[in-house]
Amino acid sequence: MKRILKIAGKFFLGLIILLLIFAAFVQFSPKKIYSVNSPDLKVIPDSIKIEEGARIASMLCASCHRSSDGKLGGALMEDGMFGVIYSANITQDPTYGIANYTDGELAYLLRTGINRKGEYTPPWMAKLPNLSDDDIESIISFLRSDNSMVQPSDNNPPLPEYTFLTKMLLKLGMFGPLPYPEKPIIAPDTNDMVAFGKYISTAKFDCYSCHSLDFTKVDAMIPEKSVGFFGGGNPVEASIVDENGNIILSANLTMDKETGLGDWTEDQFLKAVKQGVGPNNRPIRNPMVPFTALTDHEVKSVWAYLQTIPVIKNEKLVDRLK
Ligand code: HEC
Ligand code: HEC
Repeated sequence: MKRILKIAGKFFLGLIILLLIFAAFVQFSPKKIYSVNSPDLKVIPDSIKIEEGARIASMLCASCHRSSDGKLGGALMEDGMFGVIYSANITQDPTYGIANYTDGELAYLLRTGINRKGEYTPPWMAKLPNLSDDDIESIISFLRSDNSMVQPSDNNPPLPEYTFLTKMLLKLGMFGPLPYPEKPIIAPDTNDMVAFGKYISTAKFDCYSCHSLDFTKVDAMIPEKSVGFFGGGNPVEASIVDENGNIILSANLTMDKETGLGDWTEDQFLKAVKQGVGPNNRPIRNPMVPFTALTDHEVKSVWAYLQTIPVIKNEKLVDRLK
């Protein structure tokens, strides 16, 4: 008996030492550096690209990168389980902004998440693996333009401080870069409403990741493979709660009659997405922000696409609006 206890004791001691070594490794080893294989890209801006880039950025980048002066000078994004995370200054400032990035380095970062120093920017920074090359060029054209949002700002947000959890997810490769596309990506024809609606809601404006079950179960490369695709129930932001203190879950956008949009009309959908007003004038709450800059054709195309995806009855949402 004594002998067994002795062996067991040694075993646990060994295990504890291994765990301590692992914890020290996670906590103190340097950040992983990836090679930056940025494409040889020189974007030639024109007014159409700049305008489209500004429209995309207003809906996709500004929410995280806007500072109090209205420029994209960076701001506190979250102070929670992943750490104290500030977004970066992405104005044209040569010291604090991104003036030193080449067009190719920007495209590489926006697709893969790897910055010009070879560091991975964790999943909270937007990744656009399926966005068309034209739309990527529009974003870059906007970042280089004379739009007031990107004029030099000397705002210098602190570097992000990651928690142990984030460091561990990075070390274990659960948070990691996406591959750079091997072929050109072309957006679908805008007349093909189903294909175009899929593009708008899964490649360009990321409706699907908030509206599927869980951010950690999202498939960034093949969005349809995300768990609970468009079935809602995602606790998007733990700090945004209703009057009973419950986290506001994302809505089910599939055509289920009880927990989704099965009884909605296209007009109701249009008003909800663009104005933030639901049926019977019910306000659609934060963290859903109205997408005022989407065109009616884009929203109607999303509606057409949503008619074609598998219907999910989400039990989590049965009492959602009661
Ligand atoms: C959900 C929040 C979020 C959104 C949306 C977002 N970003 Fe970021 N971005 C960040 C954070 C946070 C960082 C800092 C990354 C880090 O090191 O953790 C960052 C970093 C960057 C950098 C790297 C700057 C540097 O110093 O190397 C660039 C460039 C950038 N973002 C551009 C964009 C553009 C363009 C968009 C819109 C298409 C965008 N971001 C959308 C949060 C966001
Ligand atoms: C940041 C996460 C987020 C993004 C991005 C997002 N949504 Fe939402 N959406 C939500 C949440 C959370 C709700 C629930 C709000 C509530 O309960 O009041 C919601 C509600 C809605 C509703 C109302 C449904 C109902 O039953 O009340 C519609 C329609 C909708 N979103 C469509 C979209 C579309 C289309 C996009 C992309 C263009 C999109 N959302 C992007 C989080 C998001």
